[in-house]
Amino acid sequence: MIIGVIGAGTMGNGIAEAAAHVGKVILVDVDQKRADQGLQAISKRLNRQTEKGRIDTAERDEILSRITACADLQSLEEVQIVVEAASEDLGVKQDIFTALARICSEDCILATNTSALSITAIAAGVTRPDRVIGLHFFNPVTVMKLVELVQTPFTSPECAAWSKDFVESLGKTAVCVEESPGFVVNRLLIPMINEAVFLLAEGAASAEDIDTAMRLGANHPMGPLALADLVGLDICLAIMETLYGEMGDPKFRPAPLLRKMVRAGHLGRKTKKGFFDYH
Ligand code: 3HC
Repeated sequence: MIIGVIGAGTMGNGIAEAAAHVGKVILVDVDQKRADQGLQAISKRLNRQTEKGRIDTAERDEILSRITACADLQSLEEVQIVVEAASEDLGVKQDIFTALARICSEDCILATNTSALSITAIAAGVTRPDRVIGLHFFNPVTVMKLVELVQTPFTSPECAAWSKDFVESLGKTAVCVEESPGFVVNRLLIPMINEAVFLLAEGAASAEDIDTAMRLGANHPMGPLALADLVGLDICLAIMETLYGEMGDPKFRPAPLLRKMVRAGHLGRKTKKGFFDYH
């Protein structure tokens, strides 16, 4: 099998690594430098696995050899599935899907990893929208076992069944969701993070104590503010904006402190500063 992945950022390179266990992967980004950076991140993770004795160097080299990083969408001509993990911008994704519909074969599955944008809106502009589906992975991709399989009104049962088998072949569990704003996980998780930001802004507790409370009081593996830093504050805000815009319910209004931090460029781990400091 040949799998295409678009976007070599955190999610895209994680998906590419997971997919390289079951087939050849073509990892595409807008320029070669970004594509290579994605490949380097994969190589670094695989090296750690080797150091820990989980895989040997031959396995590491074999997995790496299955991934090609490039900047050419046309290279996806012969893939059986494309998972798009480009930036969270509807226009960008629609353009990519229009191009993919032209480049890929008629029965190639076209999947998006969008965290909250409308997959129906992406599919609507594509010839044969029955092969468009959401495959929503979680960060860190190589660790998290879930993939939300998000169906639009166009998605065919064949596309859904094939995609479910694909997800399971990666060692992950698929849950089926009819498209709905934020799907299941982000609809529940991101408002919880947003509420933690309100608590912090109100001075109810320190960032450390809010996180300790949820780690020890609700057995979450990490507190909501540390999780926001992992996901990216810009992503959290974009998801809240989508939930608020789509549902029109004030319970989804983004916390002003979240907006302020995004405007300041304090986006979490990726900028080394968010609710916590990573310098
Ligand atoms: N990238 C890749 N791998 C990572 C990682 C990262 N950022 N952080 C940790 N890991 C790996 C470690 O290498 C380790 O792997 P190993 O067992 O093979 O050695 C494993 O995760 C466990 O790491 P640690 O022992 O260092 O730390 P923890 O046990 O605390 O686990 C965690 C770290 C897996 C991140 C855990 O804290 C966790 O599950 N946190 C919650 C994550 C979560 O909720 N993710 C979903 C976010 S929402 C989302 O992605 C949707 C999107 O649309 C916004």
